[in-house]
Amino acid sequence: MKTVSYRSLGLSNTGEMFQKAFTEKYAVPAYNFNNMEQLQAIIAACVQTASPVILQVSGGARKYADQTLLRYMAQGAVAFARRMGTIPIALHLDHGDSFELAKSCIDSGFSSVMIDGSHFPFEDNIALSKRVVEYAHPRNVSVEAELGVLAGIEDEVSHAQSHYTNPEDVEEFSGRTGVDSLAISIGTSHGAFKFKPQDCTLNADGVLVPPSLRFDILEEIEKRIPGFPIVLHGASSVVPKYVAMINQYGGRLEAAVGIPEEQLRRAAESAVCKINIDSDGRLAMTAAIRKVFAENPGEFDPRKYLGPARAELIELIKHKNINVLGSAGRYPALP
Ligand code: G3H
Ligand code: 13P
Ligand code: ZN
Repeated sequence: MKTVSYRSLGLSNTGEMFQKAFTEKYAVPAYNFNNMEQLQAIIAACVQTASPVILQVSGGARKYADQTLLRYMAQGAVAFARRMGTIPIALHLDHGDSFELAKSCIDSGFSSVMIDGSHFPFEDNIALSKRVVEYAHPRNVSVEAELGVLAGIEDEVSHAQSHYTNPEDVEEFSGRTGVDSLAISIGTSHGAFKFKPQDCTLNADGVLVPPSLRFDILEEIEKRIPGFPIVLHGASSVVPKYVAMINQYGGRLEAAVGIPEEQLRRAAESAVCKINIDSDGRLAMTAAIRKVFAENPGEFDPRKYLGPARAELIELIKHKNINVLGSAGRYPALP
């Protein structure tokens, strides 16, 4: 494929986005997409709430949707957004696992890449992250790296055990690699089953309440690298309304627990400048689709179930931007 710069696609890197988010104490949302309906919903909801947005593509999404198609989808998303308003849009590789993948994304128009060497020994993580920075920075592409390991299992991201980020490492890591942002581990994890029920307490409504995120570690990190943009992965709340809907309409999700919204609000006001959300979108779409199928077993037009799924995702994202991340209203919505 011919090399293309993200600027010619109308995309932004994350530099200015994070500076503004840090100063104004909110977090930029990073939503994953794999198909047209997810992309439409993310763009529509973020333009409607005048929020900056990071469109995230995982290695798995790239395989699923095809890398060429994805590039044109992102370009189309910018044009689609511009018809409704003007917000900064970044296209970001989520959990890149090799220099070659990061390079391929940069060459095909991504404005930001994550290189996830968190499972490697410290020195190897530094070497890999630095190599990506050296390729990305001359092209003005932002680089996110990760220090500390999140628990949880995703198709492409699987770690048997988590360990928190050691605040003593962050200064050396950010200094030696030159990365632009750092994903840390303070108790979040990927997927819809973030905590074991035995580690949670039951509230008065019978809802499982997980142990708090380690804000003490976050504060220690902030002290050591003041003003440096921090990223939270695994930040879905596993919205109880959608879990209940899925179960009501024939699904079976037991003991699904996420990060309470008030903890994410607190994080968004700190040095956390980017919050990653994928599972909540999956749950919202699945809940809407299950409802259509349960109520209309004869339905077979994909628009009749993907349409409601897209509408539900728009509502979810608007809620997140307005009430959780605080990213709404930060850019003039109208052209
Ligand atoms: O952190 C992982 C994201 O939720 C992407 O998941 O690898 O299944 O596309 P995926
Ligand atoms: P969730 O699984 O909590 O949505 O996290 C998504 C994520 O971190 C993508 O990188
Ligand atoms: Zn992640």
